[in-house]
This record gives sequence, C-alpha cells and structure tokens, in this order.
Amino acid sequence: MTHQTTPTVSNLDILAQAHKRRTFAVISHPDAGKSTLTEALLLHAHAIDRAGAVHGKAGRRGTVSDWMAMEQARGISVTSAAIQFEYRDTVINLVDTPGHADFSEDTFRVLSAVDAAVMLVDASKGLEPQTMKLFEVCRQHGLPVITVINKWDRPGKSALDLMDEIQDRTGLVPTPLTWPVGLAGEFHGVLDRQSPGFVRFTRTPGGATAAIEARTTATAAAAELGQDWTNAAEESALLHAEGHDHDEALFLRATTTPVLFCAAVLNFGVHQLLDALVEFAPPALARADITGRQRPVNGDFSGFVFKVQSGMNASHRDHVAFVRVCSGMFHRGMVVTQASTGRPFATKYAQQMFGRERTMAEQAWPGDVVGLINAASLRVGDSLYDSEPVEYPPLPVFAPEYFRAVRPADTSKHKQFRRGIDQLDHEGVIQVMRSDLRGDQAPVLGAVGPMQFDVVEERMTHDFGADIRMEALPYQVARRTDRASAGRLGSLRQVEVLTRSDNTLLALFSTPWRFQAVAREFPDIVLENLSPSVEMESVEGAARGDKRR
Ligand code: G4P
Repeated sequence: MTHQTTPTVSNLDILAQAHKRRTFAVISHPDAGKSTLTEALLLHAHAIDRAGAVHGKAGRRGTVSDWMAMEQARGISVTSAAIQFEYRDTVINLVDTPGHADFSEDTFRVLSAVDAAVMLVDASKGLEPQTMKLFEVCRQHGLPVITVINKWDRPGKSALDLMDEIQDRTGLVPTPLTWPVGLAGEFHGVLDRQSPGFVRFTRTPGGATAAIEARTTATAAAAELGQDWTNAAEESALLHAEGHDHDEALFLRATTTPVLFCAAVLNFGVHQLLDALVEFAPPALARADITGRQRPVNGDFSGFVFKVQSGMNASHRDHVAFVRVCSGMFHRGMVVTQASTGRPFATKYAQQMFGRERTMAEQAWPGDVVGLINAASLRVGDSLYDSEPVEYPPLPVFAPEYFRAVRPADTSKHKQFRRGIDQLDHEGVIQVMRSDLRGDQAPVLGAVGPMQFDVVEERMTHDFGADIRMEALPYQVARRTDRASAGRLGSLRQVEVLTRSDNTLLALFSTPWRFQAVAREFPDIVLENLSPSVEMESVEGAARGDKRR
C-alpha cells in the first residue's frame, strides 16, 4: 500500500487561499451572450490569447441541436463544471450552468455550489423568462447578484428603464457601478461611478483581443462628449439622489445588485466586471451544515458533490463527481469519508478543467471545484470530509412536470437499457419511476423541463448503446403521497401512482385542475408539495409589494 503524505498547511494558509477565491456562475436567457462573455473574461484575465479559443462559433448558440452537438463534442458549456483562472492575484472559478432554455435541476445544484451570480441581460430584451427563473433560484440560495447589461453596442431599452425593470421584477435595488455614455447602440464608454471619470473603449480588429481602454477626467469628458456626457452625469446624479449607490453590506445581503454595462462581443466593459468580482463578490466563506452549524473554511477538508457525469471522455468511460470544496485543503490522493455511507473514498484521480483541457488537481482550496474520477459510488448531494465529520444540507429534488414512458427500441438490448437508465437516474439527469401495473421493465421518466428527455435519448444511444422509444404521458402535476392514500388515488380517473427510485410515492395528475378537484374531494388523502417552487409569480409579487423607487 502506498503511503500518501499530507502536505503541511497552516490555518492561515487555508484562510488566505479561501480569501482570494471568487466562485460564481453566469445566469442568463439563451442568446444573452453567456458564451461570449465567458470568453471575454478569459481574454481579459489573459487565460486565453484570442477570442475563439474556447468556443467555436457553432458552440455559441443555445438551440437544442447545437447544444446536443456540443454535448457530443464534449464542449465546455455542457460537460465541464468549472473554469478556473487568475486575475489580480485572485483565483476566479466560473462554474457553468446548463446552456439550454429549460430550467433543470442541474441549474439549481450548480447555483448551490457558487458564492455569487452574474445576471447577464440583453439590453434590448431586458429580463427574459429563463433569467427570471434562474434569478429566483439565486434568491432562494441568498446569492449576491451582479447584473451585467450586455449588447450595449446595439439599440436597446434606455438604461433608466432597465434599472426600473430590474427593481420592479426582481425586488433588488440596482446600484450601477458604471453608467453608459450615449444611448444603447452608440457605445463609446462608461462613466465610472466608483472612481469618477470617463472610461473610453476602443475596439480592436474583429474584437478578438481585449479592447483598449483610456481614462479621462469628467472635465475632459464633458469637453469631448458634450451633451452625451451631461446626460450621463445627470442620470448618475439622479441615481445617487435616489440611493442607488453601491453598498457592500446590502449587496452581500442580496438586497442590492451592482450593475455594469458591456458589449461582450467587442470586449467592452469586461475589465470592470472582473474588477467588481475581485473587489465586491464574496470569497469562500464558512458554510452551514445540516444542523445549521458553520464549518469554518480553515477547518479540515470538506465539500459536497453538486454534479455527477459519466462518459465525459469518450476514449475511456469515466464517471466524474464534481465537488465544491467548502473547507480545508484538498490534495490529490487523500482518502476522504463519504458522509452518507461512512465509507472511505480514495481521491487518487482528481481533475480541474480549463475549457476542454483537463489537468490533474494536486491541491484545491475552499471555493474550488474538483472533478473526482472513478466516482461511481458518489451521488449528487453527497458530502465528503476529512477527519471531523460534516454533512451539508441535501440538494432538493424537484417535482417533475413532464412524464414519458420509456422502453428499449430493440428488446435484445435490455441489459444496456437498464444499465443506462439506472446510471442517468444515479447522475440525477432524470427521475425514474416504476409501478407494479406498468412492470419493472417499463419505467416512467420525469423531468422538470422537456429538454432533459433529449439528453436522455442522446446519452442512451451514445453512452450506453441502447436506442429508446419514449411516449409522452398526459400528466402535468406530481405530489408526494403515502401507502394508505395510494390505493384510493390509483382508482381515480386521470391519476396514476408511481414509485420513484428514492422510494417516494408520487401521485401524477393530468392537470392542475384535476389535482385541485381530487384534493378538494378527498381532504384526508396525503398530497404534499415536492420541492421549492421556481415560479416567478411569487418573487415578482413580492418585488411589487417591496418597491423602493
Ligand atoms: P449564449 O451563450 O448566452 O447563448 O449567447 P452567445 O454568447 O452564444 O451569444 C448569442 C449571440 O449574441 C451571438 O450572435 C453573439 O455573437 C451575440 N452577442 C454576444 N454578446 C454581444 C454583444 O455584446 N453585442 C452584440 N451585438 N452581440 C453580442 P450569433 O449571431 O448568434 O452568433 P455569432 O455568429 O455572432 O457567434
């Protein structure tokens, strides 16, 4: 047996490393420019030389087909969990959220692994449905949000209207750090509201390298830009008068959102976002465990699995569990304990990602993400620790809203079919339900968004060699029930009871009205909500009631 030596490290070393981490995700509606911004951030942090190094153009679109193509190409948007790069002595971990239009459980899990979010908004579209759903998840996690208005090089809404929209629809008070000079579509630069002056952007050919920035004083800007500068300065003064200035404590309490204006495709305004992350976003801090007790960041190593994925490397089938480090130092080779089973887990193979490249992770610190290879025994939500036990709160499982009966296209592939479905269930890609009536061989799949079925189809064919047939089932609502109620529910029209693989009994209803009718008619039947809601009515209602401007 090889003996693994633990590198010596002091509490102060761990604190210093945690302090210089910024771990965040970008939340946006497809096409707002997330891929473009990611690339621009890497460019400005000198992690890549030219735009185009990470994403091919085809990889930039959020459509189903391109997304699936990316999945096949194992591009970064889908399969790598986090990109790490350095900027101004700070280590930035950009954790990827799924790029497709559906809300998925994956998104919720990713947002549980970050310390802040960047809400990317298309200047001409404002807050779009997916942005709002993702924002609601941030709100549930209490995440501080930095808002970035993108595509300011194109005609769009007015900056003040966008501020109203943010406040009215999210309840966050916008506190712009920069303010655009000139209307959307005429993007020359921004008024810096933190250290007053004008920042002029000049595009480089093709926008492939970082834009040139020049700073001038307010007086020089007024002489140069005339009315455009006067308007921007007046609007900034109005924002100040109405209390829309950055306040660090309120930002960290997720009450306000600093706002920046950019054009990611021209690399305008991207430095300012990196600076805001370094200066204002929170470092990795102590996390509460399941009992509410804080595990200090400089304690022994601990972390939790927020994503599990297999088949990332086509040449050798592997199974990667992505772990957010919460405390202590991780070093490759350490043997940690899996809290749910009490069993040891040897971390001989651990990786970090940069774009499509993987590198061995020798060490990781609070805030970092490591991919543990050969991690078939690890499940999403599992806590891992060294020495002192800790268990982090479980990640919620959402109520599925789309249901499909699934079977193998070729019955002779039954073994592959079973293995694939079990694996996707294990990874948390899809929920798997069965019933005596349907038989063990004919499971029902449940998803929060329908695009998840495309993922299942693709993975079953490519990773498990089992083509499948799916049949949509006419259910829209799922509730948790119990054994005593299941018998009665099973005899009702437009209702079916199935057992999920975690042994939860689910009652499925054809429509919300059918569910309400049953609940009214049989008040003693157990029908419980399954998960936190990501519907926006609640937050938009709350925001209206809480309007501050
Ligand atoms: P996503 O990952 O959020 O889905 O968005 P993505 O970066 O793929 O950007 C979506 C489209 O918006 C792309 O155009 C991209 O070039 C464009 N875009 C991103 N940022 C800006 C910006 O600051 N200004 C302008 N004007 N456009 C921007 P596309 O035509 O779909 O693709 P492409 O052929 O240009 O790559």
